[in-house]
Amino acid sequence: MNPLNHVAIIMDGNGRWGQKYKNSRNAGHKAGLNTVEKIIKETIKQKIKFLTLYAFSTENWKRPKKEVNYLFNLLETFLTSKVDELHKQNIKLKIIGLKKFSKRLNKLLNLSEKKTSKNKRLQLNLALNYGSKTELLNAFKSLKNNKEKINEVNLKKYLQTKNIPDPDLLIRTGNTKRLSNFLLWQLAYSEIFFEKKLWPEFSENDYNIIIKKYRNIKRNFGKI
Ligand code: IPE
Ligand code: IPE
Ligand code: MG
Repeated sequence: MNPLNHVAIIMDGNGRWGQKYKNSRNAGHKAGLNTVEKIIKETIKQKIKFLTLYAFSTENWKRPKKEVNYLFNLLETFLTSKVDELHKQNIKLKIIGLKKFSKRLNKLLNLSEKKTSKNKRLQLNLALNYGSKTELLNAFKSLKNNKEKINEVNLKKYLQTKNIPDPDLLIRTGNTKRLSNFLLWQLAYSEIFFEKKLWPEFSENDYNIIIKKYRNIKRNFGKI
C-alpha cells in the first residue's frame, strides 16, 4: 500500500455545473465551496498531511471581470468566516502563488497564514494567482541573482512549494485531461487521476475511490 502524504487537486468544472443547474457560472463557484469543505474534512479523516487546491491560475485573469470579482469576493467571505474554524481544526493555511491582490485581501491572506502557521494536523495550500511557468522562471532568476549553482536542491528553495513534499496524487475533476500550468515541476512523479464529475458534484465517496486506487498502484520512480 502506498503512503499518501500530499494530495493536489485541480478543482475544475464549477462554471459548467453552475450554467447547467442554475443558469449562472458564479452559482457554480459558490457550490464548489461546499465541495472544498467536504474534501478538507475527508482529507483530515484520511490522515493526509498536505492538501493543495488550485483555486485561481495566473491565466484565470483573462476571464470576464465580473467572474473574477465574484471569485475573489467569495474567497474573502470564505476566509473571513472560516479562518477561526480552520484554526480550531489545527489546519495550517499556506498561499502558493503571487499575493498581488487588493490591499485588503493581501492583509486577510497574510493574517490567516500567520494565525494558523503553527498548526500541525493538515497543511492546506491554496494555489491563488499561481502559475507554474512563472514560479519556475522566478526560481531560476533567483538562482542567477544569488549566483547559486543550478541544481535540484537549490532550485527547490525558490519554488513556492519550498518545504512542501511533492504531491503523491493529483486529481483533476471536470472531465478535462490537462495540467493547466499547475505544479509542472512538482508533479513529475505524481499519480494522476482525471475525474469526469464536475467539482461541485465530486463527493467524499468519489475521493475515497480514487485514494483506494492510488494506494494499490505500483509506483516505480524509474526502478522496476
Ligand atoms: C474551476 O472551474 C474554478 C476556477 C478556475 C476558478 P471553472 O470555472 O474553470 O469551471 P468550468 O471549467 O468553466 O466548468
Ligand atoms: C484550472 O482550470 C485552474 C483552476 C482550477 C483554478 P481552468 O478551467 O482555468 O483550466 P483551463 O483554462 O480549462 O485549462
Ligand atoms: Mg475550467
